[in-house]
Amino acid sequence: MSDCLGKNGFVSILAHELRSQLAPVKTIAELLKIAAVDSATARRMADVVDRQVNGMARLIDDLLDAASLENGSVKLQRSAATLSGIVDRALEIAGPVVAARGHKLVVHMPPEPILLEADAVWLSQALQNVIGNAAKYTNPGGLIRIVCVREEDKAVITVRDTGIGIARAQLDSIFDLYFRAGHAEAQRSVKGLGIGLYVARALIEAHGGTIRAASPGPDCGSELTIRLPCEPLEADRG
Ligand SMILES: Nc1ncnc2c1ncn2[C@@H]1O[C@H](COP(=O)(O)OP(=O)(O)OP(=O)(O)O)[C@@H](O)[C@H]1O
Ligand SMILES: [Mg+2]
Repeated sequence: MSDCLGKNGFVSILAHELRSQLAPVKTIAELLKIAAVDSATARRMADVVDRQVNGMARLIDDLLDAASLENGSVKLQRSAATLSGIVDRALEIAGPVVAARGHKLVVHMPPEPILLEADAVWLSQALQNVIGNAAKYTNPGGLIRIVCVREEDKAVITVRDTGIGIARAQLDSIFDLYFRAGHAEAQRSVKGLGIGLYVARALIEAHGGTIRAASPGPDCGSELTIRLPCEPLEADRG
């Protein structure tokens, strides 16, 4: 993340990301209070809690890391990851937000797995911010489509919504720290700090990728496209 962020900016960004990981854990706690669950469901819930708690532990480690605090930066821990694993992990966090607003969610994954050398914890944080926005800035009952494809040596993730859209003049500014469009009625009713997309772009760029926004205009929906370097197809390896 940018060097000019400084200690306070970095701490508020980590706090923002930690908060999002609490959401699925809280949802599971609520469910366990009201419903009797069978052992297979309990096992799946335990897996989600386990993954999110491990993710939070990673973020807290970064927060405690004195060197990171001095630089205002995150150290990526890259390892072999699949794009579908990253999307699933992002949906564990953002899925409850999508469901709470009554949106239909459609996910398209190619049959051939897309492999990345990536920090899955931080990359799924980036993606959950984008999906969370699609849910927040779309009036209840909308449609959110996540389409993943390979384009040569790039993994491409497109998150499209049927929401309030983005004015042409703001398509680049939405990635600025603390930027919020703030004009539309629908926008005023949802809470936000203007941190999520700044974090998403910083993390995607740290992976050698890009993120761009497109929208036909206000009330016509938005499309966020993430491109990330990926491993070559098995058949193309030397
Ligand atoms: N899918 C979208 N549709 C319409 N506007 C969007 C969308 N995604 C982002 N925006 C606009 O970009 C701004 C910045 O997004 P960002 O995620 O950085 O911050 P936020 O959602 O306001 O707050 P938070 O830090 O809690 O995520 C939003 O306030 C909103 O105006
Ligand atoms: Mg946001």
